[in-house]
Amino acid sequence: MDKLIIRGGRPLRGTVSISGAKNSAIALIPAAILAESTVRLDNLPHLSDVYVYRELLEELGADVDWQGDSMTIDPTRMKSVPMYNGKVKMLRASYYLMGALLGRFGEAVIGLPGGCNFEPRPIDQHIKGFEALGAEVRNERGAIHLKASKLKGARIYLDVVSVGATINIMLAAARAKGTTIIENAAKEPEIVDVATLLNSMGAKIKGAGTETIRIEGVDSLGGCRHSIIPDRIQAGTYMIAAAATRGDVIIDNIIPKHVEAVTAKLQEMGVHVYEMDEAIRVVGQSGYEAVDVKALVYPGFATDLQAPMTSLLTQARGVSVLTDYVYSNRFKHVPELLRMGAKIRVEGRSAIIEGGPLNAARVKATDLRAGAALVIAALTVDGVTEISGMRYVDRGYECLDENLRGLGAEVWRE
Ligand code: EPU
Repeated sequence: MDKLIIRGGRPLRGTVSISGAKNSAIALIPAAILAESTVRLDNLPHLSDVYVYRELLEELGADVDWQGDSMTIDPTRMKSVPMYNGKVKMLRASYYLMGALLGRFGEAVIGLPGGCNFEPRPIDQHIKGFEALGAEVRNERGAIHLKASKLKGARIYLDVVSVGATINIMLAAARAKGTTIIENAAKEPEIVDVATLLNSMGAKIKGAGTETIRIEGVDSLGGCRHSIIPDRIQAGTYMIAAAATRGDVIIDNIIPKHVEAVTAKLQEMGVHVYEMDEAIRVVGQSGYEAVDVKALVYPGFATDLQAPMTSLLTQARGVSVLTDYVYSNRFKHVPELLRMGAKIRVEGRSAIIEGGPLNAARVKATDLRAGAALVIAALTVDGVTEISGMRYVDRGYECLDENLRGLGAEVWRE
C-alpha cells in the first residue's frame, strides 16, 4: 500500500479534523520515562513514528497501553538498556531517548538516529548541552554513549536554534541538581507542550516558548495526564491543499495562532482565510498572486510546510521565491514536481517557482513533506497521478486518504 493514486482536478470541500501533533507526541512519549508513576497522554495521533516509539519504550521495559487516542505509560520497571541498532534507526526523534534516559538513569547508549534524511542533520548542540550538564559523551561505532554520576544545572547557549536540542536539554535537566538556563532556545509550540507535560509531572520549567528557558532541577517526577496539542503542520498542509484546489475547507480542532504564518501568506496570495476559535476556513479562488516565502524558525513560516507551499506556488501568476533558512537543501520534491511539468529551479537555499499548470505523472515521495507536496500537486491536476514512497508520508499524516476522500478527492492505494 505504498502507492497513492490521485485523480485530481476537483476542489476540496468540507471539514477535516486535525489529530494531535506528531512532533509533540514523539517527544512527550520519551519524556514519560522521567516519571516514577504512570503518565497518560491524550489526543495521541495514530502514526508509524508513534508505533515505533511505543515499541522502543517496551524494549526498555515500560508497560504501555494504547486505547483509542490515549496512551498510558508506566515507566516504573524501565532500565537503560543499550540500543545500538534496530528501531532507534527508524526515526529521528529516537534522540530524545538520550536526554530522557540520561535524566532518569544517568546513562544511555543510543544508536545515531535515522528518520527523514533530506540533508545531513547534526546533533552537536544536543551533545554540547549534555556535556554542559556534566555528562561524559562518546560517539563510538555509530552510537552515542552518555554517562553522568550526577547531572548539574548549567547555562547553555545554543549556537543554532534547534527544536531537538532544546527539548533534549530540558529532558536531561528536569531532574539535574540546580538550575539550567537554555539561551537561544527554540520557541516552537511543541517545546511549550513538552514543558507543560514536564511541569504537570512536577518539574519547574519557566520561559518555554521564549528564547530563554529556565529549569530548576527537582529530585523526582510523578505521573500525570496530558492532552497533546493539535498538529500545526498537518493543519497547514490541509490549508495549502484547500487553496491549491480552489476549494472551501474548514480545518477543525486546531490552534489558529500556530498557523498564523501560513494564514498571512495565503491571504497575501489572494486566498480567503477566516479564523475561528479552534478552526480555520480556507476558501480558494482563481488568479493567485506570486509571493516570496522565507522558511524560518517559529513563529516564522515552518520549514515543514516549505515543500507543500512550493506546490501551491506553481498555481500562482508570476514568479515566487521560496527560501529555506532552516535547512539549506530541503528540495527533494523539486525534481518530482518537474516531472509534473512545474517550472522550478533551485539556487542555493531558494526555489524559484514560475506559475503554470501541472500534468499527471508517476512520481516518488522521498521524505515526509516532499511527499505531502506531491499529494497537493496531484490534487490540482486533471488526470491520474501515481505517488510511490507513501510510507514516508504516512509517518506524519493520520488518515490521509480517508480525510482527502471526506473532502471529495478521488484517491486510492495500490
Ligand atoms: N542543527 C545543528 N545542530 C544540532 C541540531 C540542529 O546544526 O545539534 C541544525 C539543523 O541541521 C537545522 C537546524 O539546526 O539546520 C534546525 O534543526 P532542529 O534541531 O530544529 O530540527 P530537529 O529538532 O531535528 C524538528 C522536527 C523537524 C523540523 C525541525 C525544524 C522533530 C522530530 N523533527 O527537527 O520535523 O523540520 O524541527 O522545525 O521534531 C518533519 O516533521 O517533517 C520534520 C523533519
